[in-house]
Amino acid sequence: MRKVKVQKIKKLFLSGVILGVLAGILFTVLIANTVISKKEAQYKKENSSLTEKTEALSLQVSKVNATSDNAAVLGGNDDGWSLALVNESHPLDISYVPAELVEIESERSVDARVAEPLQQMLADGAAAGLSMYVTSAYRDYEYQRTVFNATMNDWINQGYKPLDAYDETKKSVAVPGTSEHATGLAVDIISSEYEALDDRQGDTDEQKWLMEHCWEYGFILRYPQDKAAITGIIYEPWHYRYVGKEAAKEIYEQDLTLEEYLQQ
Ligand code: DAL
Ligand code: ZN
Repeated sequence: MRKVKVQKIKKLFLSGVILGVLAGILFTVLIANTVISKKEAQYKKENSSLTEKTEALSLQVSKVNATSDNAAVLGGNDDGWSLALVNESHPLDISYVPAELVEIESERSVDARVAEPLQQMLADGAAAGLSMYVTSAYRDYEYQRTVFNATMNDWINQGYKPLDAYDETKKSVAVPGTSEHATGLAVDIISSEYEALDDRQGDTDEQKWLMEHCWEYGFILRYPQDKAAITGIIYEPWHYRYVGKEAAKEIYEQDLTLEEYLQQ
């Protein structure tokens, strides 16, 4: 009888021990799971912040590359100089200055390499009975900043909030550091009969002639109608950019922008 009792106590004790061990294991597993989940969440957070940092750094690197590349391409002796792409996502080193500037009209200078074809184009236009002149040519960073700020102020004076004024301005004036005018390869040419910088400039005989013939001299209409989504700039029927005769012909014939041509 006593033996049976002792055995029962032993069994109970053993069951208790087993239950205790099981509970211990369960508890440990639960704690471990909680710790692991917390660590996982922490790693995920760290990982996404690292991914964000990496992306931001890559963007910076690509901008730095584009910047230095553009100045190197423009300053180089290879044929590629005339195809340098300068736009909002391809800035130009703000200290870049064309190696040689030539004054084509009072206070209007261009990179010496494009002076001759530009002067030829203007002379042929004049010979065709047209009257036009270069209203803006090479602009350094500071000058572009002045133009940008003045335009932005105009929008603010019209009641735009500063950020909206900024957005509106950069549709027609490149953000300083991203303007083609800093390359010395771009010029704004306007009709003497109609001097406003608006869409109607495109209807003048001078612009019609320039749009039809500029490619023969190696120039393109850089910001055509209906291409703002690609160029980032509204229709500018006065802004011509030298790209070389071969590229200009192809761009003209295929109705492309410089961005599209370079992506082909
Ligand atoms: N108006 C052109 C886009 C410029 O500012 O470069
Ligand atoms: Zn321009």
